[in-house]
Amino acid sequence: MKCKLRVTDVSTGMYVAELDRPWLESPFLFQGFVVESRRELAQLRETCQYVYVNPERSRSDLQSKIRRLAVLDRGEGAAAHAAEPPAEHRFRAFKRELARALDIREKTRQYLDVLMDDARLGKHVSIQGVHTVVTEMLDTILINPAATLWLIQLRDKDEHTALHSINTSVLSMIFARHEGMNREDIETIGMGALLHDIGKVRMPKSVLMKDGPLDREEWDMMRSHAEQGHRMLNQSGGVSEQVKTIVLQHHERLDGSGYPQHLHDNQIDRMALMVGLVDAYDAMTGDWPNSPPISPHKALASLRKTAGAQFGVELIERFIRCMGVYPIGTVVRLTTGAKGIVVSHNRASRLKPVLMMVEDPRGEPYRKRPLVDLASQKGESAGNWQIQQALDPHDFGDERLRSITAAESLI
Ligand SMILES: [Fe+2]
Ligand SMILES: [Fe+2]
Repeated sequence: MKCKLRVTDVSTGMYVAELDRPWLESPFLFQGFVVESRRELAQLRETCQYVYVNPERSRSDLQSKIRRLAVLDRGEGAAAHAAEPPAEHRFRAFKRELARALDIREKTRQYLDVLMDDARLGKHVSIQGVHTVVTEMLDTILINPAATLWLIQLRDKDEHTALHSINTSVLSMIFARHEGMNREDIETIGMGALLHDIGKVRMPKSVLMKDGPLDREEWDMMRSHAEQGHRMLNQSGGVSEQVKTIVLQHHERLDGSGYPQHLHDNQIDRMALMVGLVDAYDAMTGDWPNSPPISPHKALASLRKTAGAQFGVELIERFIRCMGVYPIGTVVRLTTGAKGIVVSHNRASRLKPVLMMVEDPRGEPYRKRPLVDLASQKGESAGNWQIQQALDPHDFGDERLRSITAAESLI
């Protein structure tokens, strides 16, 4: 038997069997769990209004209390159940988690710097550290994917490989979770993605950072990074076969156009293909020496249009669903001409995200950068709060810089 409880009545020791929304839209990895910490309790309160608690599987001293607290289900519609927690509530959670995620990213980056230096010097790669940082990243993702995704927008020009690896890892784990993988597999894909380009440390800087097209020989050298990385991990030991396969195969494509082995279809490992797709997406949205960044929205549209044969139409569609129509970090123009940056999604309405406003309709920057939840705009004014277009970062001048300042102003 399950009892419907107001989330404010839930306490530690209770077994939550069901939420008022799909599990996949929640930060919880397990479908049914005993609330064990205050943190889990806080997460529940941020996510739901009601939950269904199983008294038999809860701590024995709580069973009669649960039955007493149970509210009658008067058949409120599913829409009422799926109502979002108030925007203010979500903003607060977002700010808190952004600060935490920033901290973890900084730690991960410092760790990667050491790891890459070691690898460059021919030392062995310390796998225990990779495991630790991936687990920490995964924990923040599970609590607030929006804050973690926001971080992906924040990068400096000269931090290509390290930050690209962190981004690919975070996005791959978010994607894996969306695909319904279990915690162990999500960690594995996160590790594989974090290490996917480790072979690049063996590439000469003149090739890696070349400002201009690569010649044939340089391309061949660049393409050897997948095998180089695989070899390095073989030598260092302590890495699972699955992680090594991701590193070796992340440039293989379903139509055989990839490398190093030109594999086809199901010869390619599923996780390696997912990391390959995320890698391509992050490369398109990042600022690289030879290609200026494009907006997350355009990158998804372009993958849909051109990469079906390489990754499979289904996988791309699922990735787009996972990222949202307007991925976090997208700069959008509203019908009024005002501009904002997507900072969070509304689960019920993907076309109406939460925006941080950066420019008013006359093109003047907002000094305080208000947060606006497009889904909660009602009546006549709702028409003014509609997205007209997603913008490219370079259409928006120093948007990247702005987004960094904006994010800092949030914390
Ligand atoms: Fe690569
Ligand atoms: Fe990469």
